[in-house]
Amino acid sequence: MPSLSVSLGRLQLSNPILVASGTFGYAREMEEYVDFSQLGGIIPKTITQEPRIGNPPPRTVETSAGMLNSIGLDNDGLEVFIEKHIPYLLSLPTAAFANIAGREVEEFAQMAERLDAWSTPKPEAGLNALAGLELNISCPNVSGGVDFGTNPDSARNVVAAVRNSTSLPVIAKLTPNITNIVEIAQAAKEGGADAVSLVNTFQGMAINWRTRKPILGRILGGLSGPAIKPLALRCVWQVSHAVDIPIIGIGGIQSIDDVMEFLVAGASAVQIGTANFYNPKLSGTLAEALHQIMAEEKCNSLAELRRCEGVRAGLGE
Ligand code: SIN
Repeated sequence: MPSLSVSLGRLQLSNPILVASGTFGYAREMEEYVDFSQLGGIIPKTITQEPRIGNPPPRTVETSAGMLNSIGLDNDGLEVFIEKHIPYLLSLPTAAFANIAGREVEEFAQMAERLDAWSTPKPEAGLNALAGLELNISCPNVSGGVDFGTNPDSARNVVAAVRNSTSLPVIAKLTPNITNIVEIAQAAKEGGADAVSLVNTFQGMAINWRTRKPILGRILGGLSGPAIKPLALRCVWQVSHAVDIPIIGIGGIQSIDDVMEFLVAGASAVQIGTANFYNPKLSGTLAEALHQIMAEEKCNSLAELRRCEGVRAGLGE
């Protein structure tokens, strides 16, 4: 049987299809719909040190080409995450991550230090180890959140501070709302990131012309869904050709062809985001479809599949 397992530096996953933060709750919400064992990993909603109420409504709007959100990191905070969500997430038959954000470098570092207590399994409690930390340095909907991802020095510093606070694998989730994503990815690598996830949402807006007003309560939001796929692919392609770091591709993935395109562009794994809202089972279906493609392409491993002459053709490698 071809193996779907993949390693991203120190991170080992049973398959490369993960679910993206902010689109899968804390997993419990999805338990009656999803076979968690089919997933390569779960990245729950971003948590911050203290609870946050998020942005004023309306916080989501469907556009003709994707979804805009301006949630504003609404979450219950680190302590509730530890008490309520970690025991559930780490009991699941898949890799579970924490996704963290902060206004200061110290907040990131303190949260990482706290979560380091789950860097090893607790068999007596039936809990796996936390698979890693995804650093949300890219939320476009809060002040003092995306700044770390728009300046190389800040990105390097925040990643390095987390790196020094935990032995957990560290993934930096980057924003596309900049001129040169390569230099931010390079900085994340220099700070000690094990991988980067590319990309968070693209800043956008929606207007109701009849009321002459923006639709979202905070005016601007982040666009996700199929509209951003070519843009996200471009980011993955650029980083994969310039920075030697594993990439998790994100952006409008909704079919196995989309998954393959991200893998060929240079991603080692992908996250499914917006599609979870209309089909929470999609990630499992895509993992099965990936198995089938590997058999068709006569590849035994993902590394082989990504290197296959057939799939690389025309990409100049
Ligand atoms: C939000 O909570 O506003 C969305 C999260 C993100 O874009 O990182």
